[in-house]
Amino acid sequence: MQIPDSIQIHDLRFVPLISEDEIQDRVRVLGQELTDRYRGKNPLFISILSGAFVFASDLIRAFDSHCEVGFVKLASYTGTRSSGDVQTVMGLDKDLRGRHLVVVEDIVDTGRTLHFFLEHLRAQQPASICTITVLRKPEAAQFPVPVDYVGFDIEDKFVVGYGLDYDGLGRNVAGIWQLLK
Ligand code: XMP
Ligand code: MG
Repeated sequence: MQIPDSIQIHDLRFVPLISEDEIQDRVRVLGQELTDRYRGKNPLFISILSGAFVFASDLIRAFDSHCEVGFVKLASYTGTRSSGDVQTVMGLDKDLRGRHLVVVEDIVDTGRTLHFFLEHLRAQQPASICTITVLRKPEAAQFPVPVDYVGFDIEDKFVVGYGLDYDGLGRNVAGIWQLLK
């Protein structure tokens, strides 16, 4: 399939950053690493909605052992800027005590979302917690959050695709696209 030079979403243009093939190669490797670590432990993958649902769906199928999946909805972003506070909009309905948790994020930007969510999880006394994200923006880090598995480190520019949106659009776009500036 021919990849265009750029795509338009609302008022902004985006250029290709990471191809769908590169993502899928990386997801396979990450899935294998998680399989080696959690085989036979029935980990609970917790996908942070909405952005991480695409990655989570690929990741659990690259995980070659039994596992469970849960979803939590948190919000910290409006448009292309972090809005400051994090809220749990839709909680988890599972008992986390004694479970091995794999927290699945789409992108770690300032780290605020993950920081607050990890505090929330730790209070429920799971057996272990690890975190995995498709993307991380090291230059944007403001909160010291442990990220165990990173798909790709990227520069501090707004991106869309592979689950990530710009005001609702772009989640279904294949690959990761970066704001043209
Ligand atoms: P923090 O700052 O809490 O941000 O680490 C993580 C959440 O913010 C969203 N986010 C983005 N969404 N393009 C997006 O579409 C981006 O470049 C971007 N940076 C952060 C995302 O929802 C993530 O879970
Ligand atoms: Mg968003």
